Amino acid sequence: MKTTAPSTSAPPSGPVPWSSSNSPSAGPHTSRDAQNPYANLLDFHGKRAVELGAGCGAAGMGLYLLGLTDIVLTDIPAVMPALKHNLKRNKPVLGKTVKHAIVHWNKAADQAKSLSPPYDVVYIEETVGPLVSTMEALVKDDGVVLLGYQLRSPEAHQLFWEMCERVFVIEKVPHQDLHPDYAYEEADVFVLRKKQKGGPTHDAAPDSV
Ligand SMILES: C[S@@+](CC[C@H](N)C(=O)[O-])C[C@H]1O[C@@H](n2cnc3c(N)ncnc32)[C@H](O)[C@@H]1O
Repeated sequence: MKTTAPSTSAPPSGPVPWSSSNSPSAGPHTSRDAQNPYANLLDFHGKRAVELGAGCGAAGMGLYLLGLTDIVLTDIPAVMPALKHNLKRNKPVLGKTVKHAIVHWNKAADQAKSLSPPYDVVYIEETVGPLVSTMEALVKDDGVVLLGYQLRSPEAHQLFWEMCERVFVIEKVPHQDLHPDYAYEEADVFVLRKKQKGGPTHDAAPDSV
């Protein structure tokens, strides 16, 4: 995937790929590993997604190539020039211009999607609440949030998992089930499902919470 950034006034976090943006590629490839317990869940064919905090778009473009029917890559206005640049640059590989949109977490859209993957977006304590609210607003009751996660800020980490535990059942994908070529030791992949009344409440938020 080609990801370069034109010179813009965008914040430094957006226009470069962060390490967790490799996470979708670390998901199991069903054709290669049908025994993988996450093979069905992470078979993206026929599914739709919204990526929150897409940055330069590496994760979203990777997910699209893994079979998603539809994906919208979202971020704040300042990041759009870099994101659009990369989507245009990769159009020959992607086969079309993948959709993009401005979604500010403080203004969560009232729309339901089947899958909502944010990658490496938990790094500022102040934005944790809006991010969790946006995840909750966008994901359908039977959908999942696929989260690529790396600890960046202890304060944001603590708050993020406390808030997630109130809303979601949290499942960590074991590293042994991730693709060895793309998995990073420091980055994890989590599957978050909305808590249902009478449904399972056990979860696997990081131990340090
Ligand atoms: C650390 S970067 C990660 C980018 C990309 N997901 C990756 O892994 O390479 C975090 C992204 O979240 C976006 N972001 C931060 N606060 C946001 C907010 N309140 N609403 C929407 N996007 C936000 C930033 O602009 C940035 O692109």
